[in-house]
Amino acid sequence: MPGVTVDGVSKHFGAVRAVDRVSLDVADGRLLTLLGPSGCGKTTTLRMIAGLEHNDAGRIVIADRVVSDAAAGVFVAPERREIGMVFQSYAIWPHMTVFANVAYPLEVRRLTRTAVIERVGEVLRLMQMEHLATRQATMLSGGQQQRVAIARALVFQPRVLLMDEPLSNLDAQLREQMRLEIRALQQRLGITTVYVTHDQEEAMVLSDEIAVMHEGRVLQRADPQTVYARPASRTVAAFFGAPNLLAAKVREVRREGDGALARVDGEGWEGWGAAPDDVCEGDAVTVVVRPEIIRIATDAAGAGNGGRPGIAWRGVARQRIFRGARNLYTVETGAHGGGLAALRVTVDAPPDQTVALGSAVTLTVDAAQTWAVRD
Ligand SMILES: Nc1ncnc2c1ncn2[C@@H]1O[C@H](COP(=O)(O)OP(=O)(O)O)[C@@H](O)[C@H]1O
Ligand SMILES: [Mg+2]
Repeated sequence: MPGVTVDGVSKHFGAVRAVDRVSLDVADGRLLTLLGPSGCGKTTTLRMIAGLEHNDAGRIVIADRVVSDAAAGVFVAPERREIGMVFQSYAIWPHMTVFANVAYPLEVRRLTRTAVIERVGEVLRLMQMEHLATRQATMLSGGQQQRVAIARALVFQPRVLLMDEPLSNLDAQLREQMRLEIRALQQRLGITTVYVTHDQEEAMVLSDEIAVMHEGRVLQRADPQTVYARPASRTVAAFFGAPNLLAAKVREVRREGDGALARVDGEGWEGWGAAPDDVCEGDAVTVVVRPEIIRIATDAAGAGNGGRPGIAWRGVARQRIFRGARNLYTVETGAHGGGLAALRVTVDAPPDQTVALGSAVTLTVDAAQTWAVRD
């Protein structure tokens, strides 16, 4: 099956282990995002797929062809890997027109003039840039320059598209628009794509699957919903922007179906949370509680779990941030005598759950919407 397979690939720069035994596969026509903080090895992984770096261990397969195998000494040169690449810096030539920029990869491949005109016309139409063909590259906006870079990457019909933070230099509004554009284009062309970003929202919008990287390794690889709702570790949850990461101990486990419910005991609170099926009594866990699933009310009855297993906290609403359709509260939860620091919980509540600052509140969540992961 055409696609990309990265199998146990590593890369060292001197003593720095930039990429450490990374394995990934991207099925034909799918988009996989490498997501992680700066320095975690995303670019190096992408450059090894492209053949711009030699991997010092492992194998890379593109469209059923082994393009690199460190042990066997196989290494296919970048220009023979049939990949298109788009970088953060657009890397387009300022002194050339849009047409000449996009035509360049075809001229390198010595296509006839007629074929070049036809292919460039086609891809500029695809990118809705036909009217800009004769424009000098320096006369383009940032978004248009990035479109030229994408057109140039696609013009020779690569089997795989590699994109390294292509939207990082654009302003917020354009970035959001271009995300949707790139996703629509990728799906229309059905082109296998590996995309790199440090922006988890961008990853969620664009990806069929996300590989969360940290210190040269892949911590979790799953579809966006799973990474969001069922992070594999505290590190993944933290990187994915979960503000409520509550330390607790597992006191009891009930297994049901392919998951488990754990009775968890935190500092000054306890309750039931969903957990992976291999969780054990006595485990130290982090309970991930998404702010938007917490109900907030000034009396216990208004919150409540309707008898379902879950967690409740008593506290005081300390801060409210107006977010238009929602309010973001910071709640200091109680039972923190004895010198314990107050536990702050962030709640993202709809307008029908408005509470006054300083009032005593009850927070509740259903167990099924929480997630207790081992640290
Ligand atoms: N050419 C290089 N020489 C030395 N160290 C490098 C080189 N390229 C990357 N590194 C190091 O490898 C690690 C991973 O870098 P990189 O793949 O660029 O991360 P990311 O793209 O996730 O920000 C970093 O510690 C970086 O400093
Ligand atoms: Mg990078």
